[in-house]
Amino acid sequence: MLDVDSIRKDFPFIKNGRIYFDSTATSLTPEPVLNKMLEYYREYRSNVGRGIYKISQLATEEYENARKKVAGLINAKPNELVFLRNSSEGLNLVANGIRLRRGDEIVTTIQEHHSNFIIWLRAKERLGSDVKVVSCNKSGSFNLEDFDKSVTKKTKIVSVTHVSNVLGALTPIKEIAKIAHEKGSLIMVDAAQSVPHMKIDVRDLGVDFLAFSGHKMCGPTGAGGLYIKETLLESVEPLCIGGGTIDDVGVDYYKIKKGPAKFEAGTPPIAEAIGLGEAANYLSQIGMGNISDHEHRLAKMMLDGLLQVRGVRVHGPLSLENKTGIFSFNISGIDSHDVAMALDASSNIMVRSGHHCALPLMKEVLNERAGSVRASVYLYNTEEEVNTFLNALEEISKTLS
Ligand code: ALA
Repeated sequence: MLDVDSIRKDFPFIKNGRIYFDSTATSLTPEPVLNKMLEYYREYRSNVGRGIYKISQLATEEYENARKKVAGLINAKPNELVFLRNSSEGLNLVANGIRLRRGDEIVTTIQEHHSNFIIWLRAKERLGSDVKVVSCNKSGSFNLEDFDKSVTKKTKIVSVTHVSNVLGALTPIKEIAKIAHEKGSLIMVDAAQSVPHMKIDVRDLGVDFLAFSGHKMCGPTGAGGLYIKETLLESVEPLCIGGGTIDDVGVDYYKIKKGPAKFEAGTPPIAEAIGLGEAANYLSQIGMGNISDHEHRLAKMMLDGLLQVRGVRVHGPLSLENKTGIFSFNISGIDSHDVAMALDASSNIMVRSGHHCALPLMKEVLNERAGSVRASVYLYNTEEEVNTFLNALEEISKTLS
């Protein structure tokens, strides 16, 4: 069981009655992570993978230790973990690096964040790739037969989200990975909304690529991870090449390194990667199982409560079996931005409103072109905060609708 009172003390942001329900957009950062980054700046501020002097070696050691911790969190080997800025960069790297050819097919879904959607539309524009978009029902569930029909021998990659950033619905990744591999396709997962919240095992999921952001998992902004299955490391082309990515360069040739360094051109965000390592450590120490259990408890309160508020329409799953602590809803007759502003003004509650960078889902499935309100919980939220939120919402519904 998670000790939420002691966890809250780690987050200096939590003060003056602030209620932060926007962790789906970005999470708060705890003191141990902030301190670890300061330690780098104060104690061993130097470049990594280059200097021969002791301090630079220490910085390199810390950077590589961070890689081990982050890889460990998702059961990857350290050399399968590339440090990048965020999920979007990881998804772009793969879309550009797998050498798509004219005639290759791509399968994705209607639930994707724009980051895992427009990269494929761009491939269509550039190469004429056939992009097949698997749809879901209003509850956010997919029919596996639709994947079975859409993935063919021509499919180069299936790229799907693990958890919808709008609905919190869980995608059956293992089953989809099996379908993809049976047809000879690669599979990539946008795990931006799963890695921070649950135990992830890339081997058990059976995926080829998995991208996530550090800033959504108690890490700093500017550092994220991309898992690339060991056997694919060599065949994927880097997005950028330059310093740190080569084994040799001559006047008319260059030889690119093997392993994750090949994808990390130039001086990386060193403090941020080290901070992300500390975030992985922080989450592991609390226990990913404890974190998801805590979120599940809050999610149950949130779902039961939202369904009672006058005029509220909750989008996505109405049971918690395949759902995380992300809730999207509308109040009849009130614009989603007005609800978010009223929550902020009346109760210091921070939520996101609008299209959540998932316009295809908002337009085609939810029929909410103008957007929805989204509230999401994380390890530092409390039952009391959920109650305050529900009461504030009831009041807003009464006064504004
Ligand atoms: N992907 C983030 C969100 O859903 C920014 O809000």
